Amino acid sequence: MKGKKVSQRQIKLYYRNVLAEVIGYEHGITDQQWADLAAKVKPLIPVIAEEIRGYKRDPDIDITKTVYGTLPGNTDIARDVKVRAEQLKGRCENLVVLGIGGSALGNIALQTALNPYMYNLDEKQRRGCPRLFVFDNVDPAQLSSFLNWLGDGLNRTVFNVISKGGQAAETVAQFLIIQEMLVNKYGQKSLAERIVVTTGFDTDENGVFKSSLYRIAKGARPELPLLEVPKDVGGRFSVLSAVGLFSAAMCGIDIDSLLAGARDMDERVSCKDFYKNPAAIIAAINYHFYDQGKTVSVMMPYSYALKDWADWYRQLWAESLGKSVDLDGNEVHIGPTPVKALGATDQHSQVQLYREGPNDKLFTFLQVENFDDDPVIGPAPDCAPELGYLTGKKLSDLLNSEKKATEYALLENKRPCLTLLFEQVNEYTIGQFIYLYEVTTSIAGALFGINPYDQPAVELGKEATFALMGKQGMYEAEKITYEEFAGRIRSRTKTDLDYLV
Ligand code: PA5
Repeated sequence: MKGKKVSQRQIKLYYRNVLAEVIGYEHGITDQQWADLAAKVKPLIPVIAEEIRGYKRDPDIDITKTVYGTLPGNTDIARDVKVRAEQLKGRCENLVVLGIGGSALGNIALQTALNPYMYNLDEKQRRGCPRLFVFDNVDPAQLSSFLNWLGDGLNRTVFNVISKGGQAAETVAQFLIIQEMLVNKYGQKSLAERIVVTTGFDTDENGVFKSSLYRIAKGARPELPLLEVPKDVGGRFSVLSAVGLFSAAMCGIDIDSLLAGARDMDERVSCKDFYKNPAAIIAAINYHFYDQGKTVSVMMPYSYALKDWADWYRQLWAESLGKSVDLDGNEVHIGPTPVKALGATDQHSQVQLYREGPNDKLFTFLQVENFDDDPVIGPAPDCAPELGYLTGKKLSDLLNSEKKATEYALLENKRPCLTLLFEQVNEYTIGQFIYLYEVTTSIAGALFGINPYDQPAVELGKEATFALMGKQGMYEAEKITYEEFAGRIRSRTKTDLDYLV
């Protein structure tokens, strides 16, 4: 948050509670298994470190989607983003991000982690920065309610439309609604002051820019401000590019410290010694447990600030690791199922299942040592002396005791648990976390033998939406024309009244 000195402590991984010495030989990792995992993962460390900087490991991996390893050191992006943010900040009371998936989840998570809970409602806590709203859906009720609230505030609102491909129906639909409103109210020329487009700049074989948003931005008079989603970085690995950095900078987040944290982690996850490399260890542990039938990976932050990183992780893990074929073309249908939970809230919702249901889960807790503000619990009234045990304790004492208690209870039932310890939640530690999990995903992808950078299964649903919405042309996923495709989808999904009760 603006104006604060960011402490540069490293986040730490605690992994003893996955070992056989803690949860027994049936469920825990034995010394031999640990040594085998180390031997398997060690050679992958330098390969991944190079791959994420542009080295081609495998012909089946599209190099143009992997190179997020260049982002922590790319201070040019941060500089451009800050210049653009400074130009817009003064006349902007609301910043609205329109995006989906990798073009929204990081933005949301950065905001929840690094700005106060009441940021949008409390001007003092915003310290001159705009409110932030992120629309990553096409829910008519949600957008209408927002626009009704906004009213004349539209005049003091900047829209950051983010789409790497520039085609996502959800994002462009929202953009077209907003664009029309702005033109009707303030005229065509007003757009350049109110819209920032973040998109891919790549061209097809005829030199035509692939992103519709890019063409719209360039075609507008005056042109709309453009920020680039780096060609070589896939959506879910793009939070440290202009995708995540622009809204963060607009909202007072210290993006230089974020990148510095990522660089710090880059050193740690490039370390060739398996036993000192947190990404290698997390990937190995996840791989091992998946192989042993623990196919569910639960991330459970004990911190509201960190809760949306579990959502970000869910996308990163699911889209990257859930694949039907391996790199040799074999059908594998592989991929751990990422689940998000929040401590202590979900102790009262999920822990019954986690302890007594199937032992098919690996738990990763995120724990915070120091909270900036930490209310002390007041005295118990005379009529309720049994509550006195809480008196004088900080709220964080209770939260972290609950984390330890849940971990203890899970260990009693032989459930493996990892903990990532944050001395504090700040830009530096969040930058480390982002980069740690990106590299962990790449290493896990290599262990599973799949390409973690594509998401072919998402395409069919995207194209079917296009067809149902009347987009003409050939459909690549099915290799058929619009008419055939739309007819096929309609006949498959039509409601059979015999089954409607
Ligand atoms: O990781 C990915 O590539 C996807 O989740 C994308 O981020 C998501 O589909 C949005 O795509 P785009 O940014 O092109 O609108």
